[in-house]
Amino acid sequence: MSENIIYCYSGSGHCLNMAESIAKVLGDTDIVLMRSYPAKTDATEAKRVGFVFPCYGGGLPGDVESYVKAIKIAPGAYKFAVEQFAGYMGCGLHKIDEIVDLDYWATISNHSTCIWLMPHVLTIPPTSKKTAQKRLDRTAEKVGAAVKAMERSEKKPPKKAFFALESKGFSGMHAARSKKFVASEACIGCGTCEKICPRNNIQLINGKPSFGTNCIGCLSCVQFCPKSAIDVGKITARRERFPNPNVKAADLSKKIIHID
Ligand SMILES: Cc1cc2nc3c(=O)[nH]c(=O)nc-3n(C[C@H](O)[C@H](O)[C@H](O)COP(=O)(O)O)c2cc1C
Repeated sequence: MSENIIYCYSGSGHCLNMAESIAKVLGDTDIVLMRSYPAKTDATEAKRVGFVFPCYGGGLPGDVESYVKAIKIAPGAYKFAVEQFAGYMGCGLHKIDEIVDLDYWATISNHSTCIWLMPHVLTIPPTSKKTAQKRLDRTAEKVGAAVKAMERSEKKPPKKAFFALESKGFSGMHAARSKKFVASEACIGCGTCEKICPRNNIQLINGKPSFGTNCIGCLSCVQFCPKSAIDVGKITARRERFPNPNVKAADLSKKIIHID
């Protein structure tokens, strides 16, 4: 059993990269992926239990809320969370705090990563991919040191009630969008999308992806396609992809990643 466990959800890899960098500061950490039901929900032997996730639709992504409710944590454990977002933090941290009663929390705004909300060149100030990565690295180091020292946040995460409403509407909105996934002629039938989908929602038929309706909107298929051949209607067509440069597509499909 590792001294620390970090539960992580990640679509384009930035949160996984954050979790790995924090784990390197802590040492002896299991990163348990939450893209599907977590492979390990018994965290009772861990001294520190963390959650690293993005803001999706103003709230928590995928089924993260129900997964977090299933995790067992020892009464004396130190609990922390880090949320990454493009424009606004939403209510995700508050939701996690309600479930696990966090000791420490932090956020990082990463404008350039959101293919959904806006192209990174339009953010003010414009954020290059290099700048975004540097900011991620700096935040991970700072958070890692704080978590290692078991620092406590002075305040609780803000409730942001408006975003709870957005988050409720998001899943319905996404269900409609999930019918708009298409692969262009640039597709070479490599199968990356099929392998990376956490819901087995993509199948290669005659060498081309076919998209079902069981999509949680992580957009990993869009972000990690080596030919940028997958789009969601017209929303993503004109936008640059930005998968995290330190994360490989195959890393996202792992169940647990151990960092010594
Ligand atoms: C489906 C989807 C919904 C998103 N919704 C929001 C949002 O409501 N607010 C926001 O600030 N960022 C939003 N983002 C941006 C992500 O929070 C941001 O890009 C984050 O860095 C992604 O982390 P990841 O690479 O680990 O998936 C969204 C991204 C996706 C893919």
